[in-house]
Amino acid sequence: MTSGEMSNGSLTDERVSASASTAPVRTTSRHFPDTFVWGAATSSFQIEGGRAGRGESIWDRFCTIPGAIIDGSNGDVACGHHEHAASDVQLMTGLGIGAYRFSISWPRVMPLGRGDVSTAGLDFYDRLVDQLLAAGIDPYVTLYHWDLPQALEDEGGWPERATAYHFAEYADVVATALGDRVKHWATLNEPYCSSHFGYVTGFMAPGRTSVADGFAAAHHLLLGHGLAVERLRSRVPDAEVGVVLNFNPMHPASDDPADVAAAAAKDALHNRWYAEPIAGLGYPIDATGADRWSAAELREGDLEVIAAPLDVLGVNYYSRSFVNAADERIAARGPVTGMGWEIYPEGLAETVRWLHERCRFPRYLITENGAAMNDQPDANGFVDDQDRIDYLRDHLAVVHDLIAEGLPVAGYFAWSLMDNFEWAYGYTERFGLIRVEYDTLERIPKASANWYADVVRANALG
Ligand code: FCB
Repeated sequence: MTSGEMSNGSLTDERVSASASTAPVRTTSRHFPDTFVWGAATSSFQIEGGRAGRGESIWDRFCTIPGAIIDGSNGDVACGHHEHAASDVQLMTGLGIGAYRFSISWPRVMPLGRGDVSTAGLDFYDRLVDQLLAAGIDPYVTLYHWDLPQALEDEGGWPERATAYHFAEYADVVATALGDRVKHWATLNEPYCSSHFGYVTGFMAPGRTSVADGFAAAHHLLLGHGLAVERLRSRVPDAEVGVVLNFNPMHPASDDPADVAAAAAKDALHNRWYAEPIAGLGYPIDATGADRWSAAELREGDLEVIAAPLDVLGVNYYSRSFVNAADERIAARGPVTGMGWEIYPEGLAETVRWLHERCRFPRYLITENGAAMNDQPDANGFVDDQDRIDYLRDHLAVVHDLIAEGLPVAGYFAWSLMDNFEWAYGYTERFGLIRVEYDTLERIPKASANWYADVVRANALG
């Protein structure tokens, strides 16, 4: 969607349908706008495999560290999407989705992160885009979903300013190759995770542990985002350009002012740190409490680059967190998913309302939402995942409410199209609408896939 127009005219809360008898039966069916975008999402490292055909990424290297990945696995094969892309597009057709969000592997396109471009690497995405368009599915491309070329990490990674400029070069290469057909672009996926888990806690690649590096990485990720937006605008003038951020409402564990202050500081570091500078509000440095940034990396003009106007904000939402002054791990206050994440649909409403009030992006796409559940396949590999259906339905109901309130939420992408490599959790957590048997790479749509296909077809929640 490049026009930004959403018609709320077709949004209805109730429908009168005729039953077999003569009396009309009132069913509550929540319709979405005619222009609403229905999609599913994946990312390169999590599904592609095809390791031989690309350069090393920080995730390849991270997977070799003993204990880094819970099941000792890696992304060498993953879902084998690199070889099965054509049939995966057919599966998307079965879902009836109009949009597919995927990411480009930077080391597949530029094995060393800069300089030489791999024609074979670009060709893979070129074919995928053609296959999607032939199937009537709009490609939504994310340029960076965490798989930094290891060669750039060896030069300092995201804490190094030069990485932002290499990212812009890479964005230019991809936009030049695909921009004639791809009109929906996101620069980064979840820069919070790249900087915080990658450089502060070490829970994710590249596994470094320094608060100062984390702040530097965050700034250079955002700078790279702004520089890439400029390249995308010049290469693809009719593109819809955005970035994908993750939001996790931070609720104080109690009314104690110390807990309230701790939650506000976490909110600043996790949620506001990315959305606000992108929206032109600068970094909320004063709100971050003890972990203040020295701003040593901030140069004149950076904030203007970072605040390049966007067409859309991608919102990834899964759960909320509780925070106390002692920074303890606090148990969820409701049902949880397989990840232990509380199921809290209202947090999505809270997030979008806050974003629109404070940052006022032109519109929003829910670019990820979904649940890992304890899937139990039957003898045929079929998973009757009513719990995942409930999760998706309850969050989509919130999306519907937000649209009814007049908030410009333009689409929804289920995470994920298929089970995949869940980062430090390896293959132990399954988020897919479609089951993947990792030994055979067979794909088996779950009950949630059938349910989602019905919702998409009806453009309504029944
Ligand atoms: C998000 C990531 C995505 C996936 C989901 C569960 O943080 O963007 O790749 O791992 O979480």
